[in-house]
Amino acid sequence: MSSQEVTTVATALAKTADAEAGTSVEYAARIEHVSKSFAGPAGQQLVLDDITLDVAPGEFVTLLGASGCGKSTLLNLVAGLDKPSAGGISTDGRPALMFQEHALFPWLTAGKNIELALKLRGVAKADRRSRAEELLQLVRLEGAYGKRVHELSGGMRQRVALARALAQDSRLLLMDEPFAALDAITRDVLHDELTRIWRETNVSVLFVTHNVREAVRLAERVVLLSSRPGRVAREWTVDIPQPRRIEDPAVAELSVEITEQLRGEIRRHGQH
Ligand SMILES: Nc1ncnc2c1ncn2[C@@H]1O[C@H](COP(=O)(O)OP(=O)(O)OP(=O)(O)O)[C@@H](O)[C@H]1O
Ligand SMILES: [Mg+2]
Repeated sequence: MSSQEVTTVATALAKTADAEAGTSVEYAARIEHVSKSFAGPAGQQLVLDDITLDVAPGEFVTLLGASGCGKSTLLNLVAGLDKPSAGGISTDGRPALMFQEHALFPWLTAGKNIELALKLRGVAKADRRSRAEELLQLVRLEGAYGKRVHELSGGMRQRVALARALAQDSRLLLMDEPFAALDAITRDVLHDELTRIWRETNVSVLFVTHNVREAVRLAERVVLLSSRPGRVAREWTVDIPQPRRIEDPAVAELSVEITEQLRGEIRRHGQH
């Protein structure tokens, strides 16, 4: 498939999503004064405290923070899998999700996993196969339609999971450390693919990671959460031109600055 054809597929996907969205809103996700507590052995534990954050349409935001600071909790709230203890969350339509574990159905082929998402979205049976093939081309997995999950490498599984998430035609893609289990080279390739697909489809992305380099490599904006409780500690706008390389000096330089802040957060957290 030529890059022009890939662009055509991506544009068609973006247009469909626009048509389905109907009216346009000025955010993909709006998180307003959100707090979240869980019941623990020592009473209520405040995990997220007064988080306010918008993701603009088409924006790529990475959410960075130490392990246990509440990143997944916040993503689950945006996904609607759990409810905030206080505050409100709105999204432009229902978001699509992608996690570290691919969560593909092992008894279905790659193609059928994607078709299931299309079916749930109400795509007519006659159109599902060709749409699934288009999505596999978009993630550069042409020919994997009939492959079962166990026949695919870890990187290929994550590509299918990405294709399945894109099959939902959501305006917002929520990603929770989707590449954390992959080796560095595969992760690097998937960074390039995700950047390309994001730019071609104009989907908004809220991407959780604790890898500073990954956050800077991918995002237009990096949001650092503090720990215990999770609060927005600082934000950086990343205006390094795309496509970027993880080893770019500008990526490295900003990563050093952010890592310093993250270390400070972890030290503070350790004093509790
Ligand atoms: N359903 C739950 N019930 C009770 N406590 C929870 C629940 N979910 C999360 N927590 C607690 O909330 C805190 C934040 O967890 P969360 O999984 O959001 O962290 P995280 O930033 O995603 O960490 P990691 O980088 O390790 O994935 C942890 O202390 C965790 O134990
Ligand atoms: Mg997590």
